[in-house]
Amino acid sequence: MCGIVGYIGGKPAFPILLKGLKRLEYRGYDSAGVALLESTNLEVLKKKGKVSELEKLTETKTYSSTIGIGHTRWATHGEPSDKNAHPHYSSDQKLAIIHNGIIENYGALKTELSEKGYEFRSDTDTEVFITFIEDIKKTLDLTLEDAVRIALTKVVGAYAIVIMSTEEPDKLIAARKGSPMVIGLGKNEYYIASDASPIVEYTNEVIYMEDEQIAIITRNDLTIVDTKDVPQKAEIHKLDLKLESIEKGGYEHFMLKEIFEQPRSIADCMRGRLNATEGLLTLGGIRNYSEALTNAEKIVIVACGTSWHAGLVAEYIFEDLCRIPVEVEYASEFRYRNPVIREGDILIAISQSGETADTLAAIELAKSKGAIIFGVVNTVGSSISRITHEGAYLHAGPEIGVASTKAFTAQLTILAMIALRIASKKGTISESKYRELLVDLENIPAKVETALKSDDKVKEISSLFKDARNFLYLGRGYNFPVALEGALKLKEISYIHAEGYPAAEMKHGPIALIDENMPVVFIATRDSSYDKIVSNIQEVKSRKGKVIAIVTEGDVLIPKMADHTIEVPATHEALMPLVSVIPLQLLSYHIAVMRGANVDQPRNLAKSVTVE
Ligand code: AGP
Repeated sequence: MCGIVGYIGGKPAFPILLKGLKRLEYRGYDSAGVALLESTNLEVLKKKGKVSELEKLTETKTYSSTIGIGHTRWATHGEPSDKNAHPHYSSDQKLAIIHNGIIENYGALKTELSEKGYEFRSDTDTEVFITFIEDIKKTLDLTLEDAVRIALTKVVGAYAIVIMSTEEPDKLIAARKGSPMVIGLGKNEYYIASDASPIVEYTNEVIYMEDEQIAIITRNDLTIVDTKDVPQKAEIHKLDLKLESIEKGGYEHFMLKEIFEQPRSIADCMRGRLNATEGLLTLGGIRNYSEALTNAEKIVIVACGTSWHAGLVAEYIFEDLCRIPVEVEYASEFRYRNPVIREGDILIAISQSGETADTLAAIELAKSKGAIIFGVVNTVGSSISRITHEGAYLHAGPEIGVASTKAFTAQLTILAMIALRIASKKGTISESKYRELLVDLENIPAKVETALKSDDKVKEISSLFKDARNFLYLGRGYNFPVALEGALKLKEISYIHAEGYPAAEMKHGPIALIDENMPVVFIATRDSSYDKIVSNIQEVKSRKGKVIAIVTEGDVLIPKMADHTIEVPATHEALMPLVSVIPLQLLSYHIAVMRGANVDQPRNLAKSVTVE
């Protein structure tokens, strides 16, 4: 996924673009660049590396331009390099483009253009894209917007693009399909970006572009048409994003801020939805399909990464409380394996960004076969939130750190509320158990607050294991998906190989890995499989494994066995993942920091994978 930003108005564009790119850097950070129109001269500045490298390149320069475009890249076609950085420009250097997405038929287009004599400076699909537009514009003698519109009817793939031209220096053309784009409305000025974070400090009025829409933007006018040139009505939304929510707020990293935000983000997720004292649980976002959900014969959950782990926890909760069979699928597998989907089947799509390409594709497939789609999404106005039949926003606030933390616990909160709503309506749990679970859920923010108090102890343990080459994470029942999540957190930000496993599965092979150099993290809180996991700890200890155990506060047995223990407050086992994951988030964070890794922007990753 890449970050795109554009500006046209009365203010100097360059500072706005640079600041916007810094706010979007979590979306991709292997190279960055800007293009400015200095009168009719196209100035393109771009550099491999982070936005700070681009900033160094321009330290001694000032630009008067009040129109420009900027891009921060997560490479798809062509390695990270100066030449492959965006913006790209046409062969006659009159057009410049920034692009988030993939043009799948770029190869055929490149061959066709090469045969016409065009040459290419980079390895990217984007340069082919702008050259294709250049060729159409010249051959058919069209305006920029008409050339772009014709080109969009011929390219295959996903795009969020902004284009400008030296021949029409008071105009930006923007278009999207399958990649997000937001337009901020100012006074005789417009801001364009992949999401609202670069826009929020200038205006709270935004338009979320729809797929296959083209925006023609001048300082005084915004026109939106579709690829058939049919004018489109644009709905203006008020942003509820606050500037401080996209800043670090005194924390060293966004990830640490977001870990410590969880008591509030979980509370925000329940606000207006859960009132345990009154026994009230209202989820407006699923009202229209509540019957379908309650009477579902099967629920399929599709997601990727951490969101998939949330889906696994949901499987345990839905089957345990609602007695509805659940299948949890990697979206990337589901979309290609010709799954059995029947009219009326229920599909729940879980996604923090709401832009994950595989999850989007899985939804489209299920929708085409008549399934009812629920979204559990954090980013308001995101693509997934716009194509689902119903759903619930997490209200966790923007999650900037690439490693998902507060979105995960918010997803679990929403899924627990949906399960409780269904179980209560179906009568698969007693009224007293329902009320008890509502109280337990309402108390989770305070329990997470308590779990966060183990931060110093976790930091101390982290220093002992920061140089480990491998880790194992083991859990049972509701804590098995937590083991997977803890392993993913560690590997994606510290680059240490880590595996999550059901604890009982160790004896079927992986126990061969155990020796004095293998740290094993057990999520061993008091629940229905406690005695079994105690045995598993003994099996590891008897083979000299080093054991770090997450235990329920007051546990006196496991601290005698494990090398290190971290206590978390007791809660109902169905809600324990919300609490037991906290020390694992902190463990991965501290180890990564001690290893000098880039915690918020780990190598090779991006915050949302909007390509296949
Ligand atoms: C989690 O820490 C990772 N950043 C990644 O696995 C992420 O959960 C996955 O890409 C899914 O993203 P989404 O929730 O935005 O769809």
